[in-house]
Amino acid sequence: MKFHPIKALKALWSVLKGYLYELKQNRRYMNNWQRSSPDYWSLSSELIFYYHKLEKGLSMPGESRFFGAAPARQTCKLLDEWVSSGFSQNDSVFLGAVESLRGYFKRMPEPVPEELRGLNVAIKGYLENIEPCDELSTPIPKLFTQENQLTFIEELATRRRSVRNFIKKPVELEFIERAVSVAQKAPSACNRQPCKLHLYSNGELQQKLLKYQNGNRGFGQDIPLLGILTSDSRSFFDHTEKNEPYLDAGLFLMGFIYALEAQGISSCCLNWCVSPWEDQQVRKLTTIAPSEKIITYLAIGYAADDCVVPRSPRRSVESILNYHG
Ligand SMILES: Cc1cc2nc3c(=O)[nH]c(=O)nc-3n(C[C@H](O)[C@H](O)[C@H](O)COP(=O)(O)O)c2cc1C
Repeated sequence: MKFHPIKALKALWSVLKGYLYELKQNRRYMNNWQRSSPDYWSLSSELIFYYHKLEKGLSMPGESRFFGAAPARQTCKLLDEWVSSGFSQNDSVFLGAVESLRGYFKRMPEPVPEELRGLNVAIKGYLENIEPCDELSTPIPKLFTQENQLTFIEELATRRRSVRNFIKKPVELEFIERAVSVAQKAPSACNRQPCKLHLYSNGELQQKLLKYQNGNRGFGQDIPLLGILTSDSRSFFDHTEKNEPYLDAGLFLMGFIYALEAQGISSCCLNWCVSPWEDQQVRKLTTIAPSEKIITYLAIGYAADDCVVPRSPRRSVESILNYHG
């Protein structure tokens, strides 16, 4: 095959543009949580990051001991910033931080050593001013699965299929909210929960959004509800976390899809494999913030009675499972 230097350069430029687009966004929003003005998402993520170190420490096995003065100081500092920024003190992130301090305070050595006096006073200030919130107290006993539930999850996983034939029936918002609440229970890096879900009912805007997606031909016109799943980069401190937005979103998405299926609602992931230009066009049409990475589209709706799906066989378990002793 003949080598075309111009074509090769163009292809390389297109690849570079994709990487640079991502790099620019990561540099701008995964910025060690530097804030020049109040920013709820950045502050709440940083606060969770630090107080999670405390609640995690409180759940470790072994002898009960004092730990984590640095993250505790940072938690108090961020709570101060929260209050001075005027964010709600009924927010679960704020209260979760205070309850973690409440659990942590019990580990303070008595008498309080000189170097911990400032921290002791700062924590006490929050504990005295904020009413205890029992639902958020930490740590809590783990709930155990009482009997083997594998059949349920096996059957759910088998019934869940990518559906491309929907009826016109709208999807009830309360079912979506319930599914989101299940999806939110997915693990996420330091519990920062970066995902956001944007929904668009069938209509003009939805159809415009689908034009920039390359895998909905033949059924895109009949999607009752379109989801766009994003991950907010402000949840992450720097480029070393560049995989987390995708991983957290994948875990969220699977829980969401299963929770939809458990309520009789079908779905189909729609890839977001696009150039920077397409990504930007969708941002122009929506209120998706520049800090949010678009991870995937998701078609949501009730499957038609006569809906068929591709067999799509899976690889054998042996071909993917590698046991190393
Ligand atoms: C990230 C991702 C992107 C996908 N994109 C599309 C798409 O653009 N169009 C489509 O029809 N199906 C899409 N799918 C669905 C896959 O084709 C489907 O999950 C796979 O073939 C397995 O079939 P099943 O989901 O029915 O078990 C996507 C799935 C994933 C996970």
